[in-house]
Amino acid sequence: MYERAMQCLKHCQGLSQIFLIRTQRSRISKSSVPSLSVFDGHISSRWRSSGDYGGRKHSSNRFPRFRFPLAGLVAGTGAVLFYKFHVDKVQWAATPAQLPVTPTSSLPIYSLEEVTKHRSLESGVWVTYKGDVYDITDFVTKHPGGDKILLAAGGALEPFWALYAVHKQDHVLEILSEYKIGALNPESVKKQEINDPSDPYAAEPTRHPALQINNLKPFNAEPPPSMLSDSYITPSAIFFKRNHLPVPKVDPESYRLEIEGLPGGVASLTLKELKSCFPKHTITATLQCAGNRRSEMNKVKQVKGLNWGIAAISNATWSGARLRDVLHYYGFGPEVASGAQHVQFEGLDKDVTGTPYGASIPLNKAMSDEGDVLLAYEMNGEDLPLDHGFPVRVVVPGVVGARNVKWLGKIVVSSEESKSHWQQNDYKGFSPGTDWDTVDFKSAPAIQELPIQSAITHPAEGTSVNLSDEEVTVKGYAWSGGGREVVRVDISIDGGNTWHVAKLRTSDDGVPPAVGRAWAWKLWEINIPLPQKPQELEIVCKAVDNSYNTQPDTVAPIWNLRGVLSNAWHRVKIKVSDDLSD
Ligand code: MTE
Repeated sequence: MYERAMQCLKHCQGLSQIFLIRTQRSRISKSSVPSLSVFDGHISSRWRSSGDYGGRKHSSNRFPRFRFPLAGLVAGTGAVLFYKFHVDKVQWAATPAQLPVTPTSSLPIYSLEEVTKHRSLESGVWVTYKGDVYDITDFVTKHPGGDKILLAAGGALEPFWALYAVHKQDHVLEILSEYKIGALNPESVKKQEINDPSDPYAAEPTRHPALQINNLKPFNAEPPPSMLSDSYITPSAIFFKRNHLPVPKVDPESYRLEIEGLPGGVASLTLKELKSCFPKHTITATLQCAGNRRSEMNKVKQVKGLNWGIAAISNATWSGARLRDVLHYYGFGPEVASGAQHVQFEGLDKDVTGTPYGASIPLNKAMSDEGDVLLAYEMNGEDLPLDHGFPVRVVVPGVVGARNVKWLGKIVVSSEESKSHWQQNDYKGFSPGTDWDTVDFKSAPAIQELPIQSAITHPAEGTSVNLSDEEVTVKGYAWSGGGREVVRVDISIDGGNTWHVAKLRTSDDGVPPAVGRAWAWKLWEINIPLPQKPQELEIVCKAVDNSYNTQPDTVAPIWNLRGVLSNAWHRVKIKVSDDLSD
């Protein structure tokens, strides 16, 4: 591996001569690149397939029994029809049609506007697929878990089936065909967003319709919580998105990553150089926004900020060059690092004054052999999506989302933290007693590593379970900052009086994380026996990491004016009912 890395670096010897200005080039040595190992970012399908609930729900053994006699009936009717068709064809064969004929349908034609009015069980659940319109209300009510499809209600099924590819099977299409009620008119099929060119958000990427939008411009959205626990690796399309500014359009051909504060001057890397001159390193890491679960703080007392639910957190594989390899290459060893303490990052997204998004991290995290800080160009095995920082973003595992700068334009190695608003005057924690009149942002350190966190993704608040089910399945996620591993998740269904220990899922391949490098979340699940009589249950979860840090039980003592670091026990109320119609 080391040899391969050296070969690669040899090819790139010219790099520093071309781009490094005023630098006595320091050659990369064996000691300066001690571990150029490449993680295997393989994602096995084990968890995925177990998460393909739709597949099980629609599997053929769930077909009603009448289907087989019905199939016979259809086949028999088909034989009669075929005979009739054959006779008709013989009679008409002498005058074949010369012009193409478009078969007409007796079913009605609808506009997209009409379809979008049907998004609930009350108004009917309509969806479109390949230009046809389906009323699937009956399907949703008759199939336990069919409510997942409600996410697509009033719109196209295609984006959902792209995520859950198991649906693209003949028998699923056959079931769907039973619910067809018409077709979309051609204008609706072709309908495209008319973009206003003067709008800085006009060229924003198309987003997945399942995302729950907290703010459209700039775009901020989180997936429905239940989708988070469907797969260990969050599909990029539904990975939470947190943008402060318009998404910049970056041409990968002319892209340059500027690096300042190097021992000998400044450098500039092309995307190609970044990809080919440094070993590709892959990690699985969870990103969490500092404002995740802010809505729970809002219930205690109003805070300032987007009202995030529990899903401003997601997990992905990230590949790219290690920041330490790049800094080493340009001569930044332990001896020259003594003058600098921070690495600043600037994004290519800018506000109206031309000020870019910016943040910084401590230099020791950037240079640590075990810090795994990446200049990432791939997410989940593909080029970074536009929303997630194409073509290059920083991934600082174990550290708050805000420091994971997207659309990375510049790196500055410095004795100072980033001067940006987001480093100096935001993303800091304060006492519950501090208000906007008394707050002094200079008095608190910028958030870096995040505290222990967990939340319940299933069941959802307010849902009912039936006594006859005998047990309730509870699912969720747990994660801790700084590479600390979650070692236990405790669940209660009686508001915290009695507790059960949930089963943890470490990764798709079941390999435990390296000590101190538990960058990825654990998904957890547990079945708990239901009490014997109808009542309201308060389900609670709390996680413990390998430093025995755990979550506070209530929100009020950790409330802060910006609503960050919200990690109290997560509580979800559901009803146990003996009403069979529930
Ligand atoms: N980088 C840039 N350039 N611009 C941004 O607005 N948002 C930050 C961070 N990096 C941001 C950024 C914040 S606050 C978070 S939580 C994460 O990106 C979100 O990353 P994601 O959108 O890929 O989930």
